[in-house]
Amino acid sequence: MITSHSAEEPGPVRGGAFYDAPQVMERYLQHRHSGVHSPNHVMEEPALLDELGSPTGLRVLDLGCGDASIGRKLLAAGCRSYFGIDGSTEMTRVARATLAGSSGRVETVDIETFSAPPNTFDLIISRLALHYVDDLDSVLSACWRSLSPGGRLLITVVHPVITSHEARSSPEQARTNWVVDDYFQTGARQRNWLGDTVTWYHRTIEDYVTALTRADFALASLRECAPRHDRFDGDMAELARRRRVPLFLLLTGSRA
Ligand SMILES: C[S@@+](CC[C@H](N)C(=O)[O-])C[C@H]1O[C@@H](n2cnc3c(N)ncnc32)[C@H](O)[C@@H]1O
Repeated sequence: MITSHSAEEPGPVRGGAFYDAPQVMERYLQHRHSGVHSPNHVMEEPALLDELGSPTGLRVLDLGCGDASIGRKLLAAGCRSYFGIDGSTEMTRVARATLAGSSGRVETVDIETFSAPPNTFDLIISRLALHYVDDLDSVLSACWRSLSPGGRLLITVVHPVITSHEARSSPEQARTNWVVDDYFQTGARQRNWLGDTVTWYHRTIEDYVTALTRADFALASLRECAPRHDRFDGDMAELARRRRVPLFLLLTGSRA
């Protein structure tokens, strides 16, 4: 664990409970599926799909699965099974609807309490959920134990230059710059996100790599999810804006 809270400090706002608020859920899903204007669509997803390769025959676990839209895609692409967990009851309700009619399953479970028997999964993904998690070491060890030999863990998190410091501009405006500060001061940050307050855990890039290797993963890739030209539908101004500041960090760990 990287932080503790004194009696005077506000306690952490857990990611799952945060996404249960109807206004947060609605804003998140709108933001997430806004095409060219979603940084996930133009930056995170293309890098993730490159690293993922073919999911054919794989048993997949998704930590912090959100609406499980990736689960539908992976099942359509031939993965053997898809199991998503999310700490938000509302998100898992939406995820069940996404997966209706497929073999995919979801459960409302906190990432920090989840464990599974050895050799349960071949691929574990976690997209933009682990910066909500305090005890990353325990989570990575649980992942390592539940993977098959040769299995992989593929995670994306909000980039450490973003988790390090609060935005100065209004959250309603398109961001044009970012102040990086307190970068080596790691730990919990209360963040205004989607019109509400939530706790993110700031770690440096080095912290993430070290945590992976400490859990016995070999680092297989590290990417900063540069914007993908062909995802902008010709909107060159948006492409230029997205080239200014890194938003996502992607890491892949292999289990021997
Ligand atoms: C930014 S959303 C990403 C959702 C999905 N992975 C995607 O890429 O669309 C973060 C998700 O992580 C979930 N989450 C945050 N902290 C969690 C925790 N400790 N345990 C389980 N889920 C958590 C939230 O409920 C939310 O659905």
